[in-house]
Amino acid sequence: GKVTLYNYQGTWCNRMFLEGVNSAQQSFKARPSDVFLCSHPKSGTTWLKAIVFAIITRQKFDEFNTPLLTTMPHDCIPSLEKNIEQILENRHNNSCVTPIATHLPYNLLPESIRASNCKIVYIYRNVKDVIVSFYHFLCGIHNVPIEDAPFEETFDEFCRGISGFGPYWDHISGFAKASLERPGIILLLKYEDMKKDPTSNVKRLAEFIGYPFTPQEEKQGVIESIINMTSFENLSNLEVNKNGLQKVERLIMPENRLYFRKGKVGDWENHFTDEMNEKIDKLIDEKLGHTGLVLK
Ligand code: A3P
Repeated sequence: GKVTLYNYQGTWCNRMFLEGVNSAQQSFKARPSDVFLCSHPKSGTTWLKAIVFAIITRQKFDEFNTPLLTTMPHDCIPSLEKNIEQILENRHNNSCVTPIATHLPYNLLPESIRASNCKIVYIYRNVKDVIVSFYHFLCGIHNVPIEDAPFEETFDEFCRGISGFGPYWDHISGFAKASLERPGIILLLKYEDMKKDPTSNVKRLAEFIGYPFTPQEEKQGVIESIINMTSFENLSNLEVNKNGLQKVERLIMPENRLYFRKGKVGDWENHFTDEMNEKIDKLIDEKLGHTGLVLK
C-alpha cells in the first residue's frame, strides 16, 4: 500500500517509524563517544554511512575483507528510528565510537543528544536532486513504473513540505542554524562537494569524528581506497546491494537496490520544466536564503 505519513510535532513521519522515534525520545541516552549521522532522506545517507563505517574500521578491514562487500551500509550503521532496540542492546557491550544515523530533524533529536557535545555530521544535497531521487524512490517502493507516476505530483507535495521527515526546508535550516550556534559540534557536508572533491571531504570527516588519517596512511593511499570502495560504482554493483534486503526486525524495508539509483549530480535537469525550476528557485531563496547554503 501507499506510504502513510503522519504529522509528528511538525515533521512528516512514516507510520512505520513512529514507534522507534517515540522510544528513541524516551529511552535513548547519548554517550560522549557517540557520533550522529543526520540527513533528510535521499541526501546521501547510504553513502555517508559507508564512508564512516570504512573510516572507523580501517585498522581491521581493507577493501578486500570489509563487511561493506557483503552488508548493506544501513545494516553496518544502525538508525535511531529503525533499530533503536538493537542500539540500546549494543550499548552494553561496546565502548568504542558508535555512529548512529537518523533522519530526525534537529528539534526532534532526543534531548540527551542536543544537550551533549556529541559530534553530529549532517549531509545535505541540492534540493532539486533530492526531489528527483525521492520521486524515483517512491516509484520503486510502490512498484509503479515511471511512466505511470506524474513527477509533478511529487514535486508539488515536496514543495509544500510533504516528504518523509520533511519539510526538507525545516530539516536543513534546523541543522544549519544549530551548526552556527554550536561551532565544532556539527559538520555540514554537501553531497555535491563530496562528489567534486572526495579526498578533502573524507579527510575532514575523519578528523571531525576523531579518526584522522596519519601522514603514513595518506602516503599509502588509504583515503583513495576508502573513496573507491564506497563509490557509487563499486557499492551499486555488489550482489548485496543489487538483490539484498535490509535486516530489520519487524519492519518491512525497501529493497537495497532502491538506495542505489544513479548517484549523479544534476539529474533534476532531466525532470524539471522551466516552470518548476522557477518555482523551486523562488522557494529556495525564500525558505533557505538565510542559511547562506547553496542549494540549487
Ligand atoms: P539518486 O536517486 O539521485 O541516484 P539516501 O542514501 O539518503 O537515501 O540517498 C540516496 C541517493 O544517494 C540516491 O541518489 C543514490 O543513488 C545515491 N547514492 C547511494 N550510494 C551512493 C554512493 N556511494 N555515492 C554517491 N551517491 C550514492
